[in-house]
Amino acid sequence: MSAEFKHSAPEYLPEERVERVESLLSQLSLEEKVGQMTQVSMFADQDDSKIDRMLDLVRQGKIGSFLNAPDRDTRNELQRAAVETSRLGIPLIFGRDVIHGFRTIFPIPLGLASSFDPGLARAAAAAAAREASENGIDWTFAPMVDVTREPRWGRVAEGYGEDPLLASRFGAAVVRGFQGPRPGAEGSVAACAKHYVAYGAAEAGKEYNTTWVPERLLRDIYLPPFRACVEAGVMTVMCGFNDLNGVPMSGNRWALRDVLKGELGFGGLVVSDWASTHEMIAHGNCADDRDVAIASARAGVDMEMVSSAYEKHLLEAVQSGHVSIEEIDDAVRRILLVKHQLGLFERPYAAAPVESSVLSPGHLDLAREAARASLVLLKNDGETLPLPRGLGSIALIGPLADDRHNPLGTWSFDGDRSASVTVLAALRQRLGDGVRIEHFPGVPDPRSFDQSGFEAALAGVKRADAAIVVLGEDGNISGECRSRAYLDLPGAQSALLDQLASAGKPLVLVVMAGRPLTLDRELNHASAVLYAWHAGTMHGPAIVDVLFGDVPPSGKLPISFPRTVGQVPIYYNYKNTGRPPKGTERGVPRGTPLDPVDMVASYLDVEVTPQFPFGYGLSYTRFEYADVQVSKSRIGFNEPIEVSASVKNVGARAGTEVVQLYVRDRVGSVTRPVRELKGFSKISLAAGESQRVSFTLSAADLAFSGQDNIVASEAGVFDVYVGGDSRADATADFELVAD
Ligand code: NOJ
Repeated sequence: MSAEFKHSAPEYLPEERVERVESLLSQLSLEEKVGQMTQVSMFADQDDSKIDRMLDLVRQGKIGSFLNAPDRDTRNELQRAAVETSRLGIPLIFGRDVIHGFRTIFPIPLGLASSFDPGLARAAAAAAAREASENGIDWTFAPMVDVTREPRWGRVAEGYGEDPLLASRFGAAVVRGFQGPRPGAEGSVAACAKHYVAYGAAEAGKEYNTTWVPERLLRDIYLPPFRACVEAGVMTVMCGFNDLNGVPMSGNRWALRDVLKGELGFGGLVVSDWASTHEMIAHGNCADDRDVAIASARAGVDMEMVSSAYEKHLLEAVQSGHVSIEEIDDAVRRILLVKHQLGLFERPYAAAPVESSVLSPGHLDLAREAARASLVLLKNDGETLPLPRGLGSIALIGPLADDRHNPLGTWSFDGDRSASVTVLAALRQRLGDGVRIEHFPGVPDPRSFDQSGFEAALAGVKRADAAIVVLGEDGNISGECRSRAYLDLPGAQSALLDQLASAGKPLVLVVMAGRPLTLDRELNHASAVLYAWHAGTMHGPAIVDVLFGDVPPSGKLPISFPRTVGQVPIYYNYKNTGRPPKGTERGVPRGTPLDPVDMVASYLDVEVTPQFPFGYGLSYTRFEYADVQVSKSRIGFNEPIEVSASVKNVGARAGTEVVQLYVRDRVGSVTRPVRELKGFSKISLAAGESQRVSFTLSAADLAFSGQDNIVASEAGVFDVYVGGDSRADATADFELVAD
């Protein structure tokens, strides 16, 4: 084995298993090795002839993995063919996209990120793993840890937002949740960090688009969550569809071999995305599938998903010396190690559980808790919320108010729609017969322009004591290949709200969406706005719990909300520029002639700030921040520093707050962002209660990629800010000095 392909087995893998992998490797023919590197898709509508064909290929050792096996029995049948009739009896590994739940659906990842509670995301992933593994799934293609600054990009729903620290904490937690206490533990599945790397930087938010990311930005923003997943022991990584700086990720040897497998020390397997290898032909980087097989294998793509460049050309590519046997062995070793880690050699078959965990009361409770924690209160004028007790009647308007399907969000094809509880059902459950609840969709579905239901909805609002309006995006206009160029409410929903506002009553707007929407107009009409994302199976009860104040809202935005699409990309950790705005610049109101204003980095026609900044979210109470202290005014590179602040609940109700720590490095050898999130802590305080919240920082937390692209910390002065969102203004500073 050449030094370059030296592969160390994970520590928890007993020596004899590693030996078994080596022994298998020495017995496999080159053809069988290529078989291990091949993953084939199956779908539920598979006809028998296809299954027979697959069984035949499995027996010949030509397939190493399946995705989307339709059910446990088919899975076991295929597995039996592999284990009992293929020459070496190597088990298959079965993958599926279990992204935010299996039958029980949790909030979309972007919603979960709003909880700022990685522990909750870990618990949700563990529950999803249990339900999935009962159904014969060994491997999920999650978490997606692509940092993104792009609300237009549909896949913003699948990740943890714009911040590398938040995405790292969630990514690592979700890996641990899926993989359980140790790989192969009962009820666990292998996780897959995707889409390596910078896929979220798709130009103009257009799906599958080109990504141009300077190495410095790559290292500071896009790479850290992958590092965190590797450190959390993620067993697999998926490479992206994207062309990164001119080299598609499926053939990007530098990013895969040098950085991921080399620098980050990733010892698991790299799978391509769906035919992303073959797509290098369309990218214009490979002439044909033979070229593809050579480029991908050399780059370090260990398993090819769906397309067949490996199956058709890898054998010859090795024989002709274009791909080395060391490169092949490295890939197969990784695949066999993952299969060993999962215990597939000992327990190849999926057994029906004695007691199923699917949609168990525990999972539904967890889904409700996660959904509550994901809700973000954006506006609450005149304490419209919580809704008062003793209401006689409620008008519930909107196409999503009694919809079981769309609030499950993207990637919920295994989700059980019949278990989904709508806002209408939850309101009825909570309020019983004593309160008259009238429901009017207003528009037939979220994307419809049909206004024939407006009148009835308006009349309903006029005769009710309170009006709740549930608008937003349907579940399938976010997610893969669901980019949008407009970020407003689809169809006639905005017009519906205009109409309802004419009743002159306070409107409570609940927005369900898979991305940040531009809500400028709606904010003028609604007295209160609760952003609910797509909150999953228990969305209805969770929303009702918060609307009535049984649970206070505590979610915070994991991504900035633009005022208008023209501000995108807009993110909190931007650079100051040489002409920073003073923070008060207002664009000229729309419809007036454009006039030059201050010569600063801003817009003529819209305020420079986002509609809602990263980290923002209201509660039913208010928190005050004061007295930020640092434990030392100067620290060396090897000593930690403690930053603390006093947080007081100055309102009349109990509340939960996400206390956030931001840092600004005043001067760097390369320019530094105006703010960077360095810690967060979720606390609950009774009315009038206060607490000191502390964070520990070390020089390593202050490191960044310098002019030489090496990540290191630099001496200098750092401002720290503690507060309830990225505009936090309670501040102190300290100096990092060379030892
Ligand atoms: C394509 C998607 O990009 C990826 O995230 C997913 O895991 C695969 N398809 C498999 O379904």
